[in-house]
Amino acid sequence: MNPRKVNLILLGPPGAGKGTQAQYLQSKLGVAKLSTGDMLRAAVASGSALGKQVQDIMAKGQLVSDDIMVNLLRERIRQADCQNGFILDGFPRTVAQAEALDVMLSEEKKHIDCVIELKVDDKQLVERIAGRFSCAKCGAGYHDNFKQPKKSGVCDECGATEFSRREDDKAETVSKRLDAYHRQTAPLLPYYQKKGVLKGVDGMADIGDVTRQIDGIIGG
Ligand code: AP5
Ligand code: MG
Ligand code: ZN
Repeated sequence: MNPRKVNLILLGPPGAGKGTQAQYLQSKLGVAKLSTGDMLRAAVASGSALGKQVQDIMAKGQLVSDDIMVNLLRERIRQADCQNGFILDGFPRTVAQAEALDVMLSEEKKHIDCVIELKVDDKQLVERIAGRFSCAKCGAGYHDNFKQPKKSGVCDECGATEFSRREDDKAETVSKRLDAYHRQTAPLLPYYQKKGVLKGVDGMADIGDVTRQIDGIIGG
């Protein structure tokens, strides 16, 4: 697989490390990173019509409707920066979204090269989410125990000193997000297995180790 032009999906439960690995892959491969959670949070922060529509749903830990998500993705994936490859983080999340993605890509004569499943057990996910924070300016992700900025209180990526925690990272919402993953998103595993593009990595390993496993798969 040509690592410079690759269409990847990162699949896994909340807190599995999708965003962390997508951030790494984006800078390594120079391809576009499409994180639907980040796109929706930006819409909420901007107060747009879309943001108003999805705010409550996200705060409850539920999935936004397939219609909204498919339209959002369709527009985004047509943009110029996706022509040399993309990493999907957080999409698709239902079988209906996966089917819509297949149609969208075949219309543009593209396909998914690889779906990487990050396997992490639920207990570890809760700990990861509880310690997560990110740069308020550029969104780079960190963790109280597993990934502190190199210089305390200063973002590695952009030098900003303000950080924030996610609204939906409260313990009671996290269990709803995990539920939604097991019920609505896990059926994507057999869906992509049948297509022969699913590869699993041990997401319980430390961050660098997970990165090395992914590099091994995409030939980096
Ligand atoms: P989204 O933002 O996609 O959230 P999520 O899937 O719940 O995943 P997270 O972002 O919580 O986890 P992650 O896998 O990115 O982990 P991270 O790398 O941060 O979606 C949010 C909401 O938006 C949804 O609930 C839904 O409402 C809506 N939505 C989005 N897309 C949708 C769609 N397609 N359809 C419908 N609704 C949609 O890692 C977690 C922490 O652990 C970090 O602090 C990190 O530093 C640390 N860490 C990462 N890897 C490791 C490791 N290997 N070891 C130790 N620590 C690690
Ligand atoms: Mg994420
Ligand atoms: Zn930053």
